[in-house]
Amino acid sequence: MRNENVEHALLTYLRSNANDKSRGICKRLDHPEFKCSNGWLDHFKDRHNITFKKICGEAKSVDVNSEAMNDWWKISHIKGKMPSEEPPFKKKKLSSQHSHSHASQNGFVNTHKLQQERRKLPIFPAKHKLTQQIRSLDTAIVIGETGSGKTTQIPQFLHEAGVHRGSIIAVTQPRRVAAITVSQRVAQESGTLLGHLVGYSVRFEDVTSESTKIKYMTDGMLLRESTLDPLMKRYSIIVLDEAHERTIHTDVLFGVVKKAQRDRKKKGLKPLKIIVMSATMDVDHFSNYFNKAPVLYLEGRQYPVQVYYSTTSQSDYVMAAVVTLFQLHRDQPPNQDVLIFMTGQEEIESTVRCIRDISKDMVGEGPPLVVCPLYAALPSHLQLKVFNKTPQGSRKVIVATNIAETSVTIHGIKFVIDTGVVKAKLYNPNSGLDLLKVVRISKAQALQRTGRAGRESSGTCYRIYTEEEFDSFKKNTVPEILRCNLSSVVLQLLALGISDIVNFDFMDKPSMESLIGAVHQLHSLGAVTKEDCIKLTPLGKQMVSFPLDPRLSKTVLIAKDNHCLEEILSIVSMLSVDSVMFTPQSKREEALETRKKFISSDGDHVTYLNIYRAYKSVRGNKEWCHENFINLRNMKLALEVRKQLRGICVKLELPIESCGQDTSVLRKCLAFGFFMNAAELQKEGEFISLSSRKPVSIHPSSSLFMCKPAYVIYNELIQTTKCYMRDLSVVDPDWLYEAAPHYFRKKKPKPG
Ligand SMILES: Nc1ncnc2c1ncn2[C@@H]1O[C@H](COP(=O)(O)OP(=O)(O)OP(=O)(O)O)[C@@H](O)[C@H]1O
Ligand SMILES: [Mg+2]
Repeated sequence: MRNENVEHALLTYLRSNANDKSRGICKRLDHPEFKCSNGWLDHFKDRHNITFKKICGEAKSVDVNSEAMNDWWKISHIKGKMPSEEPPFKKKKLSSQHSHSHASQNGFVNTHKLQQERRKLPIFPAKHKLTQQIRSLDTAIVIGETGSGKTTQIPQFLHEAGVHRGSIIAVTQPRRVAAITVSQRVAQESGTLLGHLVGYSVRFEDVTSESTKIKYMTDGMLLRESTLDPLMKRYSIIVLDEAHERTIHTDVLFGVVKKAQRDRKKKGLKPLKIIVMSATMDVDHFSNYFNKAPVLYLEGRQYPVQVYYSTTSQSDYVMAAVVTLFQLHRDQPPNQDVLIFMTGQEEIESTVRCIRDISKDMVGEGPPLVVCPLYAALPSHLQLKVFNKTPQGSRKVIVATNIAETSVTIHGIKFVIDTGVVKAKLYNPNSGLDLLKVVRISKAQALQRTGRAGRESSGTCYRIYTEEEFDSFKKNTVPEILRCNLSSVVLQLLALGISDIVNFDFMDKPSMESLIGAVHQLHSLGAVTKEDCIKLTPLGKQMVSFPLDPRLSKTVLIAKDNHCLEEILSIVSMLSVDSVMFTPQSKREEALETRKKFISSDGDHVTYLNIYRAYKSVRGNKEWCHENFINLRNMKLALEVRKQLRGICVKLELPIESCGQDTSVLRKCLAFGFFMNAAELQKEGEFISLSSRKPVSIHPSSSLFMCKPAYVIYNELIQTTKCYMRDLSVVDPDWLYEAAPHYFRKKKPKPG
């Protein structure tokens, strides 16, 4: 009976949104799940306990320092004693601001209790041996199951034993949310104020002080720091955590820290110790890269997690996840929270709305639901909100991208629903096509996601895919460096003084095509010279200062010469966030009509500027946003980004001037940054891209959709049924030639 109620609610909801493609939940009315009402959990009948046996096998196979390895095998067999499932320690509710003052309150909470918690972690009995081992090694690869205590404990052990020799221990994280929350936890455990002994440094936020010795930071931040000091002299130990993620920044850091370690040795400076950590990595590959570094294996997870596979393949993972959630919600007691993995902002927001709507129809059929989205573009304070304790008697549901996949401990999570997909960047150096696509996760990612359910007590993970599908997943995630446009990486390496890019010590070398393509791109942008060797130009040096794609940095810097930085900063900020326009399917016509007043025949960039100016003139009024179908959240974010970019311009002493109403100068600046992304109208009325000579079309969301300008530049290409250009401006072809005569001489279309 209850099943039918939920089913009814879902159907009602879906019917009213049946045409809503933007919500990503269309065509679900004939979903097989709804044709049977004999229980939704039927397709989750197989039960499996996670064993991580494969990982144990790999760790053993490393042929290094066999004596140490044997020791480690002994130490690692500490498992078996599962801590009793007592309720998690009481901690004060984290405020959404993670300021020093808030940290100071948390810093002293329940230190004694936290010490007891620490002692129960699987890593704890290995403390002494582990510390000794690491003390004696230059480089160590540490592998231990999720939740065993690597990230929070190892830096503390090393600090307590003085292995850091008074200098700073840096611990990198691929994501800012992990760096912030883990440092908060470690500060609490050490009974100190956040920003004192333990601190963090993420983009635009540095919570450290003179006394900070354990510093959690994003990999991007450490890489940025290394451009100022390639020897990384501030640090005695660098821990590259979550190495399996193979983010582009961590991959470059591998080579950079290895070089720093070697150069410091050569120069007789203080040694640099490198620790590479993960729960799931290809240890042979890592060990070989780091000169056969010993692998220290920690066994024992804190709490068991049961895994259920779907018995049938699910064509619609969003729906299957929502169905699974409500099945759990109906049956499970309150305060057992759920974490659902999805792919991106739009999908997450639509799922959050869907869950909230359904729950309104389910009053009395489960505890009240607190539904929170979590994705990178969400402002920091909203991201941290998901870590707050769930009100007593409720259930928290977090719908997140893979930013919640590694490292983090979210209070209360008992269930994970893993859709098995992720949005990944893919790049084709031949076509210059850089696109985001939804792809299957790797086994390593699936294990990480599962691990999020067993942090504070035993948990359960529902995989929205069959076991056979899981078997077909790649073992490890393809490194980002092998599937991205490399111009930012090459710029960073040059800033580090590494000019022989091709022979840089990459763990997995990108293709020559990609590397050479990136150098050409930077050369065309005027960021490098290629005379004797590849070197940064003064313009290139300034470009390094901006945390932006080099094409956008160039646009900003050229705007200075064209006296329109004021406007370009607004446009670039609007481009740095997800869409500021909100178009509900049911009010589509009304939304388009209302926003007509912002549209410029010059293209999307000037349209964005018009929206920005209008928003500023009403001082960010909420009602105004609502009436005009403008996404308030993304507008606020754009303003935040703008403030930060403006700060960099001020530091570089760039005059921030306005061009008033002259928009041609803005489009000219964009042409100087994006001349590689130019398209030309053909006689037949179709566009072709000037760089690849491939047909491209104007995206239906563009303000130029119905127009046929002779030349346009665009910010990105998206491949769906066609290759669509998004975020376009009309340009004068003379500007393109002026921007890069060399580039266009080669690419000039053949007559006829
Ligand atoms: N913010 C937190 N709140 C509550 N408990 C926490 C928090 N952070 C860590 N813990 C506890 O400490 C344990 C160890 O966490 P830690 O992050 O060090 O594990 P890990 O070995 O690095 O795991 P992973 O491989 O998943 O990153 C967690 O399982 C959890 O029980
Ligand atoms: Mg960790």
